[in-house]
Amino acid sequence: MTDASSTPAIPVTIHRSDYRAPDWSIPDIALDFALGIDATKVGAALSVVRQGGAPVPLLLRGDGLTPAAVRVDGEVWNDWRMEGSDLIVDLGERTAAAVEVDTVIDPASNTQLSGLYASGGLLCTQCEAEGFRRITFHPDRPDVLSRYKVRMAGDKAAFPILLSNGNCVDQGEEGSDHWALWEDPWPKPSYLFALVAGDLVVNKDSFTTMSGREVELGIWVRGGDQDRTGHAMQALKDSMAWDERVYGREYDLDLFNIVAVSDFNMGAMENKGLNIFNTRYILADPDTATDVDYDGVEGVVAHEYFHNWSGNRVTCRDWFQLSLKEGFTVFRDQNFSADMGSPPVKRIEDVRLLRAAQFPEDAGPLAHPIRPDSFQEISNFYTATIYNKGAEIIRMMATMVGPERFRKGTDLYFERHDGEAATCEDFVRAIEEGAGIDLAQFRRWYEQAGTPRLKLSLAEEAGHWSLDIVQTVPPTPGQPEKQPMMMPLRLAAFAMDGSGDALADTLVTVTGATQRIALGKFAARPALSVNRGFSAPIIVDFERGSGELAWLAAHDDDPFARYEALQQLMLDTLVAAVSGKTGDHRAVIDAVGQTLAGAASDPAFVAEAVLLPSEAFIGDQMVTVDPDAIRRERLALQAAIGTALETKWRAILAGRAPPATDLSSKAKGGRRLRGVALAYLAATGADDAPALAFRIFSDADGMTERQAALATLAHGDSDERIAALDIFYQRYRDNPLVLDKWFQVQAWSLRGDTVDAVKALAQHPDFTLANPNRVRSLYGALTGNQAAFHQADGAGYTLIADLVIALDPKNPQTSAKMIPPLGRWKRFDEGRQALMKAELERILAQPGLSRDVTEQASKSLLG
Ligand code: BES
Ligand code: ZN
Repeated sequence: MTDASSTPAIPVTIHRSDYRAPDWSIPDIALDFALGIDATKVGAALSVVRQGGAPVPLLLRGDGLTPAAVRVDGEVWNDWRMEGSDLIVDLGERTAAAVEVDTVIDPASNTQLSGLYASGGLLCTQCEAEGFRRITFHPDRPDVLSRYKVRMAGDKAAFPILLSNGNCVDQGEEGSDHWALWEDPWPKPSYLFALVAGDLVVNKDSFTTMSGREVELGIWVRGGDQDRTGHAMQALKDSMAWDERVYGREYDLDLFNIVAVSDFNMGAMENKGLNIFNTRYILADPDTATDVDYDGVEGVVAHEYFHNWSGNRVTCRDWFQLSLKEGFTVFRDQNFSADMGSPPVKRIEDVRLLRAAQFPEDAGPLAHPIRPDSFQEISNFYTATIYNKGAEIIRMMATMVGPERFRKGTDLYFERHDGEAATCEDFVRAIEEGAGIDLAQFRRWYEQAGTPRLKLSLAEEAGHWSLDIVQTVPPTPGQPEKQPMMMPLRLAAFAMDGSGDALADTLVTVTGATQRIALGKFAARPALSVNRGFSAPIIVDFERGSGELAWLAAHDDDPFARYEALQQLMLDTLVAAVSGKTGDHRAVIDAVGQTLAGAASDPAFVAEAVLLPSEAFIGDQMVTVDPDAIRRERLALQAAIGTALETKWRAILAGRAPPATDLSSKAKGGRRLRGVALAYLAATGADDAPALAFRIFSDADGMTERQAALATLAHGDSDERIAALDIFYQRYRDNPLVLDKWFQVQAWSLRGDTVDAVKALAQHPDFTLANPNRVRSLYGALTGNQAAFHQADGAGYTLIADLVIALDPKNPQTSAKMIPPLGRWKRFDEGRQALMKAELERILAQPGLSRDVTEQASKSLLG
């Protein structure tokens, strides 16, 4: 059994409309593991109950498994056959049976990190979405819920800690072996099964729930890492309290365990009572983690905890409903993080992520609705659309009904579907009934892909102003025609002369392809503040002069809208410059200068607001992306702002950084602003900039300042750059998470030789394809570096295609995630298009390609 042979390359498309309820339910499962790193024996005993009247065989999915023995009701059973990799057991007329299947698996050779695998001597599982079938034969679909009893036995020295879902109900010793028996009282789908065995240390704490039950909390890590688990533990306790307060949801087991592992395809996994995390989202201390890392830990701990209700107690009927748990849970974790810090800054970050990751997906060959109609490989659908657009769609419902009515809707949802495998439709219906709103038209958000556009214009009649809206939803693959969407649009209007006329914050519901909204009486054209707080996940086309945008950037009473106005002003300036029109930087410089006046009171907001739009986002505004012109003009504007406001940047940097141990929003904001100031100062080309950056790097008392200074130096060509990279490497070469940063800052570099540098770094002794974090820190960073990845000779494309080809046989899930950047070829000039398509074709020509990569590459090539 090899890993590659277990994934068939024949693309089979699965359709949502083909859903059929399972033929057999499995109320109880007993699993027996005899643990070994390269041979683990798995005994599975399934109590199966037929659901329909007519006899039908039992279909048990497998992936890379061979049955060693099959028994039914205690007797050796020969009425079974393999159909591809699946096991079909003929149970004749039986309506219920005890089916036992034994298998042997090899965790050490499992490089896909799906199923049971070894990570640094540790055995752990990852079952979502379809990994359970790599452990034992099972229907492995989320609408089959069972109570699990898990027995595991193994060498005490190799596996001193034995964990699974639920509660440990018994344990014992047999010579050099020991065993543990775990029982999870809550029926769950197979994707939430988890097991961990190995040498771990624990940070223990407890939480008393709202009904007074005491829950034991444990965060399990490798010896030596326990001092870096405090922030995750605090985040867990805060999440538990928040879900009680905001959603009335209490935890439901006596134990909540989290294990951190180094080799993990994703960020973290919500297995019932036993979350498994990428170390990246657990370990944090000021010396090794940045403020962004700290926020990541808090947000991901919350996300996985919140799944206990939105995902586990109420799960998904089938994988087409993935956004039911992921979109809703992202919405929940976003609001939690907002409550823990600054709501406007959190909203800015979330919208920036949506625009960076989801809008391009919605505009490209892989566009799909948040509830897809079909897929070949479900692992390819853990997308920004399912997650982030999914969260926006929940947010719109919450915005339209307000917090109290939304809570009535979610209460009804949880109450009605507790213990069930539900659908997106079930959720919408619960909100409709619980909150009292008609969502008939709103349901289109679940069906239609593509980012809606609102084209806006102002009209005046006898001093009365109104807003005219034209809504379009662009065609996407398989969906040439679209219907208008229902969306909440928050707006306000101001008189720029300060005459006092204003339309205060108003929520309107847009439903039509065209719609007129009365704004009221104004002596002159009002400044319109629209889609405030990003009330709808759309693109707004609205011609506004720089004067109006500058006025809004300074005066709008909604901080998000102030941010948007300044970003739009920067974007207009940059797009004009890239298209060869006059590069007048004055309005932007003035607005940035104005905004900096608020730096002392709200540094976090100011840091976000004065940041230039990313190269990719500038490209998204253009008919044909010109990566070189974008880089040139963005650097020119950065230098102009740097030079014109140099004294302000220097003043910010002359102050003292808040101590790295201070993790208040204000301290984090202060550090962020210093990072932005350093980047602007470096952009001026001032002679002393490298020395100043090097001093900040050397004096830093924490990773936020240290990494910001290193990243700034990495863009340049100074001796300080070489020195800092070397010092950083020597200091942290034994800390994998920090070493990832060392690879990442070099792949992010704005230097012209970055593609060559990445190619060289891939040969570095510390680089490995075996660790997904390491792969992402080098190659993922490169695809996010627009001008480097799109280097005109195609060297960036070749590098990524080579990676996809080399990684696919080892880890198809992580390999397939690298393909979408190559699929954006339509957005570029003919030369780049040809080079990108040629690389996609080269990938597709590889023999034995995984289903994951086949689907992504073939869809990307279609355009
Ligand atoms: N359920 C997912 C993790 C998952 C998805 C594991 C697919 C394996 C395959 C988990 O709840 C999740 O969504 N994690 C995110 C982080 C989250 C904060 C958005 C992740 O892992 O990126
Ligand atoms: Zn999730």
